[in-house]
Amino acid sequence: MILNLSRRAKGASPSATLAIAAIAKRMKAEGIDVVDFGLGEPDFETPAHVKEAAITAIRDGFTRYTAAAGIDELKQAIATKLKRDNGLSYSPADIIVSCGSKHSLFNIAEALFEAGDEVIVPAPYWVTYTEQIRLVDAQPVIAQTREEDGFHLTREAVESVITPKTKAILLNSPCNPTGAMIPLEQLRKIAALAVERDLLIISDEAYESLTYDGHTHVSIASLDEQIKRRTIVVNTVSKAYAMTGWRIGYAAGPAEIIKAMGAIQSQVTSNPTSIAQKAAVAALLGPHDDLRTMVVEFDRRRRFLLNRLNTIPGITCTNPEGAFYLFPNVSSFYGATVNGRPISNSAEMADYLLQSAHVVSVPGSEFGSDAHLRLSYATSMETIGVGAERIERAFGALRG
Ligand SMILES: Cc1ncc(COP(=O)(O)O)c(C=O)c1O
Repeated sequence: MILNLSRRAKGASPSATLAIAAIAKRMKAEGIDVVDFGLGEPDFETPAHVKEAAITAIRDGFTRYTAAAGIDELKQAIATKLKRDNGLSYSPADIIVSCGSKHSLFNIAEALFEAGDEVIVPAPYWVTYTEQIRLVDAQPVIAQTREEDGFHLTREAVESVITPKTKAILLNSPCNPTGAMIPLEQLRKIAALAVERDLLIISDEAYESLTYDGHTHVSIASLDEQIKRRTIVVNTVSKAYAMTGWRIGYAAGPAEIIKAMGAIQSQVTSNPTSIAQKAAVAALLGPHDDLRTMVVEFDRRRRFLLNRLNTIPGITCTNPEGAFYLFPNVSSFYGATVNGRPISNSAEMADYLLQSAHVVSVPGSEFGSDAHLRLSYATSMETIGVGAERIERAFGALRG
């Protein structure tokens, strides 16, 4: 009796992507040559000048508690970045630094949502959104995008699921898992909708700098002052600067909301790591050559793997505009049987690829789309080449 978990804990599912990463790690430790397309982080090194800034911070003894919502120097650097890259003006009071943007997002959920609230989440979605919304007893409501439209979110898709309980719309462009970016005209229409219906916007811009084919990111908050007033922009140094382990993310928005998030954060984690904050300043304000190199390399891999997937009969894969994932539709193979075991969904397909081809993928069901698998190309070109061959063979075997 005493060991009974809370209702909240019982309802929470652990991150499936992290679980799959653990299986792949175990297989690798057993000596199995695994091709890992499950990764949610750049395979590049944190830039040298960023590491140096952290080392200097340690040497200088910058190793104590800081202000819970982050040091002013980093908030200023974030304000500079938001102005420089997004045309957005924020003062430090409108900014909070958290232990990764996942933490910023959870602070937002804690500060704004409660039982009875609905939050619109476009699908396919990063699974953390729906889980976090549920963790604070609110209800995620799915706005469906269509593969035929390149997974592009439309105003109509959002509008069709608005109810009197809707409090906010969560946007993620470029999107994890599809890589799709919200077209500018739709972004404008969604902004107008939010104003008309008095809704908040949470804009997760984690992948903003990883865009391809000439696409560039526009923050919805930059469209006009009206939408900026009801938007919280969320971003991170994790992806652009290959800093996933440093755990620095941030949010910028209306000062009252940021203040409430700060109060919650101060009781839960206190400040993000002091040293990592100094490193983040160097990342945001320093040279961006490493980022440019990374984008060129991601683009090369993206085009290679996309072409290979689209030549496999039975697989279709949309061309993603950003992030570092491909989201192929593999559902035409559902119904196949391997050694008497049926493959009828994305989890069974991911398991088949893992067991038979030693290829790690993430089932689309984790992102609200069971017809798909997510493949991350944040791994070397050589590995991608080997993986592509294994995938071709594995699907060839299913065709019999
Ligand atoms: C869409 C999206 N947002 C936010 C994050 C969180 O990144 P972090 O907590 O490292 O800032 C991720 C990580 O995978 C992501 O895919």
